[in-house]
Amino acid sequence: MKNRMKIIVAITGASGVIYGLELAKKLKNHELFIIVTENAKKVMEHETNNYKEELEKLKELGKFFESDDIEAPIASGSFGVDAMVVCPCSMKTLAAIANGFSDNLVARCSDVMIKEKRRLILVPRETPLSPIHLENMLKLSKIGISIIPACPAFYNKPKTVNDMVNFVIGKILDILKIDNNLYNRWN
Ligand SMILES: Cc1cc2nc3c(=O)[nH]c(=O)nc-3n(C[C@H](O)[C@H](O)[C@H](O)COP(=O)(O)O)c2cc1C
Repeated sequence: MKNRMKIIVAITGASGVIYGLELAKKLKNHELFIIVTENAKKVMEHETNNYKEELEKLKELGKFFESDDIEAPIASGSFGVDAMVVCPCSMKTLAAIANGFSDNLVARCSDVMIKEKRRLILVPRETPLSPIHLENMLKLSKIGISIIPACPAFYNKPKTVNDMVNFVIGKILDILKIDNNLYNRWN
């Protein structure tokens, strides 16, 4: 693993934007590119106390792109992004990625990660899951995309929401091979 990777964090309009916001903070030692979809902003409005302030803090962590900025450098394979995490990943964005329908920057960058055979991690959040959602996840899992559901464990006895969020983020960092002690490992 490189000491400093080029990593894209994309936040889409699924519940659990806190996962994406906290993940971006944990990646501060890397070159970070951040995309927030318009629908993610709407969810942020519901799930954070001051979404505009959260967005401003996020913009300080890396280079920020709007999801309609299809001309962004990260939209090209030649830019050499090492890894991308869509966190949380809505079922709509999951469907777009699974079908190569690159109509916004999140879907396009994901498409690039797949064609360039780079690490792509999706953190889907929906319940219950329909056969369509499951088929899309299976299709992507079969070609090596990591599916890490926003699904915290309880065996480590979480005491706060942050403990539960950190469990999922720890799993993402494990896949990225970034050392972390964000959750208690089973031993
Ligand atoms: C408050 C709120 C919560 C939502 N939660 C989810 C969710 O957990 N999972 C999901 O797939 N869609 C959820 N949606 C619907 C998505 O936002 C919607 O499908 C949207 O088109 C996703 O667009 P995007 O992937 O481009 O951000 C939610 C919408 C709202 C307003």
